[in-house]
Amino acid sequence: MSLQFKKFIVALFSLAFIAAVIIVGLIQRDRARPEKAARAYADEATKACINCHDQKHAAVVWNRQWEQSRHAEKGIGCMACHQAAEGDPDLWRHEGYLVATVPSPKDCASCHEKEYKEFTASHHAKAAQFIGSLDNILGEVVEGTQAANLGCKQCHGSVVKIDAKGLPLPGGWPNTGIGRVNPDGSLGTCTACHTRHMFSKAQAREPRTCGRCHMGPDHPQVEIYEESKHGIMFAAHRAAMRLDADQWIVGKTYTAAPTCATCHMAATPTQASTHDVGARISWTLRPLFSKRLENWEEKRAAMTKVCLECHGQNWVTNYMQMFDDAVEHYNTKFAGPANDVMERLKAAGKITPTPFDDAIEWTFYELWHHEGRRARHGASMMGPDFTQWHGFYEVAKHFYTKFLPEAEKLLPGVSGVALAQEGHQWKKGMSPEDLKRMIAFYEDRYGQRVQ
Ligand code: HEC
Ligand code: HEC
Ligand code: HEC
Ligand code: HEC
Ligand code: HEC
Ligand code: HEC
Ligand code: HEC
Ligand code: HEC
Repeated sequence: MSLQFKKFIVALFSLAFIAAVIIVGLIQRDRARPEKAARAYADEATKACINCHDQKHAAVVWNRQWEQSRHAEKGIGCMACHQAAEGDPDLWRHEGYLVATVPSPKDCASCHEKEYKEFTASHHAKAAQFIGSLDNILGEVVEGTQAANLGCKQCHGSVVKIDAKGLPLPGGWPNTGIGRVNPDGSLGTCTACHTRHMFSKAQAREPRTCGRCHMGPDHPQVEIYEESKHGIMFAAHRAAMRLDADQWIVGKTYTAAPTCATCHMAATPTQASTHDVGARISWTLRPLFSKRLENWEEKRAAMTKVCLECHGQNWVTNYMQMFDDAVEHYNTKFAGPANDVMERLKAAGKITPTPFDDAIEWTFYELWHHEGRRARHGASMMGPDFTQWHGFYEVAKHFYTKFLPEAEKLLPGVSGVALAQEGHQWKKGMSPEDLKRMIAFYEDRYGQRVQ
């Protein structure tokens, strides 16, 4: 090859490279200015809202977010959601417009009927209906309403009350709790997962979206997920997850890992997506005793279909069996006996009917509501550390060293029936052979004995 020709090739490639850089730059510039595109579609009302809010520095960022949304792209303006009619409880007469201050799932329903119906039928929509629960007494009475407003209700949802002008009142607002009771009577809010005003499905598919509520000592689902192989694979390969795809089908659109949405909501090649997060769970792992839910076989089958896109049948069946066994084990070895002891204490008048006024009631509550749930939640979603050290270990430790001693102090002999169960026979003492094996293990490894 002549030197001349080589120079020519190099020059050609350099030009092509420069051209590519310029084209990408232009595309990026247009992407960075979606407002230009969005405004072209906007209706008169939307233009007025945007112009005045921009001028007056009133919630300007919502304008920018709306401009980047799929809604703007499709010409869905502010009033598609914010239009109020005469007589609506949240009608606010605002600059010549009838503005709804609390757009609710009902306002989305005209265009998203499927999602509205499924969500409304789910446990999520009913999450603010917890009056009467022990947790509610804890939040509203033992701790106090001021705490509950910014605690419980930010996850579960408030009851939104409106003033004479149509503006929502403090106490119930601001709030994007999942079961919010809206002034129009509808339940929940889609913004719990689709943060306004981008209303993005990609954002809703992020595990952290669910983790805002599904976290902490009594339901650490996001922590469990992050420690599981599924969470690790998600973190390592998130660029390949195509979270913004329109059709997001496990095994087809993406293959690296499942997210919360994959297992609980999204489509598989053989089943449609759903906004009812209960559609694929067979147990409730929340109460003192776990119970199988109505039509649990169907729900288990729906979940299994998700797993089978990535795993073999035996892998999944075996895992599910170990999970079911762990839940039943918790029920019979710890929840049953602890409940029996509490019933006996109550019958003997050693504790009052008022919840949380006796120290042992706190111990018992944490046993099932915190550590007992963690054990079951860890087992359901491949989180061994939660099943074990944050779960069954804490259950056992507190059952034997705190709960039973406290009960015995109140009523000597009360734990006799509970401890007669086979699972508790180990307390009678180790056999000489077991003891010998243990000593040998430590002497072998470390040259010393323990205990
Ligand atoms: C002529 C100016 C003007 C126009 C037009 C206007 N707004 Fe506003 N808007 C404001 C200002 C200023 C505020 C902040 C002060 C306030 O809350 O009154 C505001 C606040 C709001 C709020 C927040 C209420 C709250 O909770 O505090 C909403 C919702 C709202 N506007 C919606 C709209 C919508 C939807 C439109 C278009 C149909 C619109 N606005 C048009 C000036 C305007
Ligand atoms: C797809 C529905 C939808 C569209 C379109 C929409 N909004 Fe909203 N907007 C909501 C919802 C829902 C809320 C709050 C209620 C919630 O979080 O559940 C809200 C709240 C607001 C608030 C008060 C919130 C705050 O932080 O103070 C303002 C202001 C507002 N919107 C302005 C606008 C403007 C301006 C537009 C058009 C550029 C617009 N919205 C378009 C659904 C929408
Ligand atoms: C007037 C009709 C209309 C209303 C009202 C409406 N939307 Fe939409 N929405 C659309 C259209 C159209 C699309 C685009 C659908 C598509 O791309 O196929 C869309 C898309 C979406 C998406 C997917 C966005 C993405 O990332 O692709 C979400 C999430 C969404 N809407 C949520 C809501 C919520 C929540 C409300 C109520 C607060 C609402 N919408 C109200 C028409 C509407
Ligand atoms: C960080 C968000 C968050 C906070 C704060 C919170 N919860 Fe929850 N709560 C949840 C989630 C998520 C669940 C479901 C857990 C599961 O399914 O494993 C739940 C479950 C419950 C349940 C069980 C419902 C059932 O069907 O068995 C009750 C009752 C409850 N919470 C009441 C309360 C009360 C009252 C408070 C305040 C004292 C509170 N929660 C604080 C997120 C929260
Ligand atoms: C618990 C979180 C959550 C809530 C609450 C929620 N969504 Fe979604 N939404 C999602 C997830 C996750 C996806 C993506 C699902 C998928 O990939 O199949 C999604 C997708 C969508 C889409 C895109 C079309 C589709 O089905 O893929 C629309 C439209 C939508 N949601 C509307 C709504 C409306 C309207 C509400 C309220 C009635 C709502 N969502 C409440 C999590 C939620
Ligand atoms: C690999 C699939 C998978 C992933 C990923 C996953 N889950 Fe689960 N989840 C399950 C299974 C399986 C169960 C138990 C189903 C049953 O009861 O049969 C479950 C149960 C639950 C429950 C019910 C707990 C109760 O107390 O009854 C909640 C809530 C939940 N998951 C939330 C989440 C959240 C939030 C994430 C993400 C941070 C997530 N899940 C990720 C498979 C998954
Ligand atoms: C704003 C808080 C919040 C967010 C965000 C949230 N959840 Fe929940 N979730 C709850 C509460 C509270 C409950 C318990 C409802 C009850 O039983 O009263 C719950 C219950 C559930 C259940 C059990 C349903 C049943 O039928 O028993 C599943 C599964 C679940 N959520 C999955 C998810 C997934 C997946 C996401 C994200 C896509 C998500 N959640 C986002 C608060 C939330
Ligand atoms: C999108 C694909 C995908 C889906 C869907 C999926 N998994 Fe996985 N799973 C994986 C990957 C990848 C691994 C890591 C494999 C490895 O260890 O090499 C894994 C690992 C596991 C492990 C081993 C955990 C460990 O710590 O070694 C179990 C158990 C498991 N999955 C069960 C399930 C169950 C049950 C379901 C359905 C509820 C499910 N998976 C759904 C991809 C998936």
